[in-house]
Order: sequence, then structure tokens, then C-alpha cells
Amino acid sequence: MIELNFSNMMTEVLEEKGISERQIEAMRDRISRAHCELTGKNWPELAFQDLISQDTSAVAEIAEWIRENSDDFLVLGIGGSALGPRAILEALSPFHNLRKRPRVFIYDNADPVTMNSILSVTDIEKVAVNVITKSGSTAETMASFMIIWDALSKSMGENGKDRIVATTDPQKGNLRKIAGDRGLKTFSIPPGVGGRYSVLSPVGLLLAEVIGVKSKDLLRGAADIHPKCSDPEVWKNPAYLFGTLLYLMDREEKRNINVMIPYSDSLKFFAEWFCQLWSESLGKLGAGTTPYPSLGTVDQHSQLQLWMEGPEDKSVMFLRVEDHGADVKVPEIFKDMDGIAYLGGHSLAELINSEQEATELALSRNKRPNMTVHIPCVDPYHLGQLFHFLEMATAFTGFLYGVNPFNQPGVEESKSFTYGMMGRKGFEERREEVERARARKACYRL
Ligand code: PA5
Repeated sequence: MIELNFSNMMTEVLEEKGISERQIEAMRDRISRAHCELTGKNWPELAFQDLISQDTSAVAEIAEWIRENSDDFLVLGIGGSALGPRAILEALSPFHNLRKRPRVFIYDNADPVTMNSILSVTDIEKVAVNVITKSGSTAETMASFMIIWDALSKSMGENGKDRIVATTDPQKGNLRKIAGDRGLKTFSIPPGVGGRYSVLSPVGLLLAEVIGVKSKDLLRGAADIHPKCSDPEVWKNPAYLFGTLLYLMDREEKRNINVMIPYSDSLKFFAEWFCQLWSESLGKLGAGTTPYPSLGTVDQHSQLQLWMEGPEDKSVMFLRVEDHGADVKVPEIFKDMDGIAYLGGHSLAELINSEQEATELALSRNKRPNMTVHIPCVDPYHLGQLFHFLEMATAFTGFLYGVNPFNQPGVEESKSFTYGMMGRKGFEERREEVERARARKACYRL
């Protein structure tokens, strides 16, 4: 089971800069209210908690078809529809495309160079495509879908559609309509489950199965941690403590930047997934804290100076992997050079974990708050725990702040300006607003 060690957030270590047990106790009413919201029936969006007991046989079946019939697997989606799949891919199958088939491409950004590159290195007739969009209207995803649909149709005619799997709302949206009209293979994202809470739905599970990961193992991990993460007693609930501590650091200590630093390349994209979840869920009505994704040990040589001696506005969250699943010994050579000879005989796993511990200690000595999630190993079971733990923690923290952790009105606003600029019907006023803004922007130019 993953474990949260939050000692370095507390007064015992940080003295007056830490959070005291008394401060947490004083939050009891607010915590109880947030607990009731998270475990009650008021929010259809809590459906993400039901994903842990879903039947994955259809996902496994289609994945098998994809594995047997494709050289490449192309995921089209953005935001929650891409970050979760990418986190799974990078955590559980590093260097995937150099080692395994089908290769996997995740196309999220509307970058023409990337699209051209993907098209130029794949044989379209041997690509299986998974287009993922809950709304069925996100411009980036639908544009890439239209490009790939066209390429498939030109190359394979009617049969092109057989290479597409659409993952979308069960009833609504353009993609659902196209899928119904053209008879595409489909998966549903349950109506209540929003993009950033969807990694353990077919959004992430199809990719998992395609790369040979048993989605059941991801879900088993999530199911096993669920009772802990919904325990009403804050002192027994790592998700509630995680949220409560970051909330208190923000509200009472003005520390409103949250660095997530995994000490494992495999979790680099997991940190990016978390940052979207945290930002979009909490950043509203003037509330929220700014997460930023980092990587250990790399950012010790880039960001750490700022965290140690810069503004006292951060809490650092370490992700520490106990067993990296592989190790490499440093050879005992250059024995006459004291400056490097000490490394010989140790291993890279020892080095990376020592660096994590050293950084944790250095921050704590400098009274800089930090906490550590200990992960026994990066496998599907523990990754499932991590996803669910942070989804529960994030939704809970949203309720602590008194915001709706499931909507994203700010994102919708930017989408509507894009629709206006690209000429979508019904968004003419948005287009005019963009034109007025362009005129204002022209004032100061060098
Ligand atoms: O978390 C969210 O809801 C968003 O980030 C969406 O995932 C993102 O905007 C893409 O939306 P959709 O899945 O509707 O294409």
C-alpha cells in the first residue's frame, strides 16, 4: 500500500512554520462537511468512485483485437483525455515504442508538426485509433479526428472506420452521433465522470490493456485504497490529510505553490496528470493553489535553490519509489580519486533514493514544508492506488475550499473563443470580442 508521510509539514519538524495537530483539529467541522459531500449523493460527478468496480472485459477484448491487428495505436484527446493515458504509458511501459508493438502515439496538442510526423512514420492502414472526448466537441480532438478519419477513408474507403474506437459520453455529443451513424466501436465515459477524473475509465484502461497491462490490477489497487481514502476520521485518511495540510499551508501560511517531484522518470507524466487534476478542480472563485510538476533528481540541479532559499510560498510533495524494479551497479573503478571513488559499489537506485532523502532533509532543516508519498514499486496495482488517492484528495480539497471540484468554467470560456475564431455557428459574438481584443493588443508593439 502507498503511504503518506507528512511529518515534515508539522510543527514537530518545522516549528512555528509547520502545521500543528491543534490546527487540524480546528478543521474538524469543515472536514466533516467535505467528507459528507465526497461520500454523499449530491454530486453525480462522484461516479468516478464507482469506476473501481467496473467490468473491464469489453476493454480487454477490443485491446486484444488492436494488439493483433495494428502496428501502431494512436490516441487522440486532450486534457483529461490524454494526460491519464500518457501517465499510464510512461509509468508502466518506459521506452515503449523502442521495445514493443503496437507503438503508441498520443496526439493532444494541435501541433501540425507533430501530426505530420505521426502520419509520416505510420502506415495508416495499420493504425488503430482511439479518439477520446467526453464532450465530443473539443476543437483540438475533433480536428485531429477529422484529419485521421479522412486519411483512413482515402486509404481504406468504408473499412477505414473499423480501425477507430470512440470513447465518449454514452448519449450526447458529436462523436457519439458520428459513432452511432457510422457504426464505430465505442466505449462510454460514464455521464458523471469528468475528463480529469476519467483515467480509470476506458479512457486510460484501453491504452493500459493495449500495452499489456491488466486493467483489473489498476482497479484492484484503487479499490484497495478506497476505504482508507473515504474514512471519516482525518487522522486515518491519507487523502484528507493531504488536502487538509495543503489547504492550511495555503490559507494560514500563504504557501500556495505545490511542487510535485517524483524521484523516478516513470512518474514524470503522473505529476503532469496530477497538476491538471489539481488546477482545474480547485482553481475557481479565487481559490486554489498552483501545482507544478518537477522531476528528481533533475530539478535539484535546476529548481531546488529556489525552493530552499526563495520565497516561502511552497510545499513540496515527494513521490519516492522504494523498489525501482531494476538496478545498475556503479563499478568500483577510479579508486584513487576520492571525489568519485565512493560511488563505486553503490547502485543507481541507492543514489536516486539517497538524493530524495537528502533533499527532504535539507528542505526540512531549512523549515521548508514537504511531504512524501512512499510507493512500494511502480506497477499497475500501486499506480491505481496513486490515481485514486489523489482523485479523492483533490475532490475533498475542493469541498474544503467550498468550490465545485468537477467543473471548469474557465476552460470552457477559452474553448468558446476558439470556436468563435474558427467560425463555429452560434459563437459569432465571441469572434467579435476577439477582434476587439486584437485591436487593443495592437497598441503596444515594438
Ligand atoms: O478535465 C476536464 O474536464 C478537461 O480537461 C477535459 O478533459 C478537456 O478539456 C477535454 O475535454 P473533452 O474530453 O470533452 O474533449
